[in-house]
Amino acid sequence: MVTIEEFTAETFRYDTVEIQLQLHPLVWTPTSFANAMATHVAKVLNSGDRVLELGLGSGVLAILAAKLGASQVTGLDINKQAIIMAKNNWLQNGLNISQADFRHSDLLNALNATDAHCFDLIISNPPVLPQLDIEAIHTPSTRDEFEISGQDGRRVLDTVLSQTGQYLKSTGGILTIATSLQGWPQTKILLNKHWYHWEIRQQIALELTAECTAPYIDYWLNKEQEDGYSRIYQQAGRYLHDVWFIYAHQPIL
Ligand SMILES: C[S@@+](CC[C@H](N)C(=O)[O-])C[C@H]1O[C@@H](n2cnc3c(N)ncnc32)[C@H](O)[C@@H]1O
Repeated sequence: MVTIEEFTAETFRYDTVEIQLQLHPLVWTPTSFANAMATHVAKVLNSGDRVLELGLGSGVLAILAAKLGASQVTGLDINKQAIIMAKNNWLQNGLNISQADFRHSDLLNALNATDAHCFDLIISNPPVLPQLDIEAIHTPSTRDEFEISGQDGRRVLDTVLSQTGQYLKSTGGILTIATSLQGWPQTKILLNKHWYHWEIRQQIALELTAECTAPYIDYWLNKEQEDGYSRIYQQAGRYLHDVWFIYAHQPIL
């Protein structure tokens, strides 16, 4: 059980937009990924757009989209507590609840036929951790466990790249993040297979975030031994990884 003292508050800033967030120990706290993503959301979002986010967390990017002019935001998360927090944060930021449709969902499962070809923009800052053999498969109960995304850390990313096209309007696009942790070659294969047009909007090297602990580092180094593709590298004693911000449009359906 979470006590009231465990809630924290944070202000997220993008340009002139300020977002007040209440954060919960079981819900993802925005990191530099969300900060960088904010710039890209601002560049591709048009006023009046209908937006879908897979992996709401605190709701920070959904709220940003609304503050930048989205008319309606649908948000999905597998973590029930994230849905509650995102709704609270939406209201706390003075937004109208009738413009938010937040659904508890594993991947896109909570979408239905009426959501097909509905969205102008689909965004996702996906989880990246692989399921290690030493971890028993059980229902996630910590914020970090919700960041485990299939055997290779690609379950959500692969869904974004391969299955979101059917929910876009013909003029719509997706904005997502891929990391070297998940292996770039597979990401490129899926982009070429499912999209007529895609581009890397930004590539940066970021230090591994706190949940990327020793067993994961061993896993990524072993994977490099197996397939020769570098997932992490050291610089001045710190582990870095590459991060790509990708925009894709015109899905191959
Ligand atoms: C890296 S966090 C991003 C949160 C927020 N969008 C941000 O940028 O701070 C990824 C989010 O995806 C959610 N998630 C993980 N696996 C999921 C799944 N299979 N289906 C839906 N959401 C999932 C997690 O619970 C978490 O809230």
